[in-house]
Amino acid sequence: MKILVIHFSKFGHTKQIAEAIAEGLMAIGPVQVCDIDQVDDSELQDANLVVLGSPTHNMNLPKALRPILDSLPRRAVRGSSVAAFDTSYKMNGLLARFTAAPKLDRKLRKLGGKRIVPPVSFFVEEREGPLYEGEIERARKWGALIGQRLSESKIKQIRQI
Ligand SMILES: Cc1cc2nc3c(=O)[nH]c(=O)nc-3n(C[C@H](O)[C@H](O)[C@H](O)COP(=O)(O)O)c2cc1C
Repeated sequence: MKILVIHFSKFGHTKQIAEAIAEGLMAIGPVQVCDIDQVDDSELQDANLVVLGSPTHNMNLPKALRPILDSLPRRAVRGSSVAAFDTSYKMNGLLARFTAAPKLDRKLRKLGGKRIVPPVSFFVEEREGPLYEGEIERARKWGALIGQRLSESKIKQIRQI
């Protein structure tokens, strides 16, 4: 089982969340946490699970992340389970939809991934942080939930054989 938790982070909070998600995932196998700049295409293609996160900038993906995502091979995560998260401000109503995670989710599925859980936001108090209290623990739990979903989907596949 190869599990990658990939992050893009300007001030370090998305990276912290990525590390907490990895802790939650460790129950199902070893987890590699890496900056998106450090991932190579073959590593991505070999992964069974890819979790990808970034901060929200101007209600969207950070500008510097877009060319990196655009440079990935067309079927970079084909057949892998995928999940997306972001860090953003706590917002209510319609505005809460305009964060990076839904865009990362769409991109991962376009690259051939199978969504295993819906995209999620983790919250910062201000632009340069800190994270709200409890967000690290919430990220660990989200990681554990992904692990659980992945195990369930593997059992289902085995039963279908
Ligand atoms: C240029 C810029 C624009 C931002 N725009 C938004 C925004 O539209 N919505 C939002 O929720 N957060 C916005 N933020 C705050 C980010 O959510 C916050 O910086 C990020 O979660 C911190 O993550 P990081 O430490 O991994 O960089 C913005 C931050 C920057 C630097």
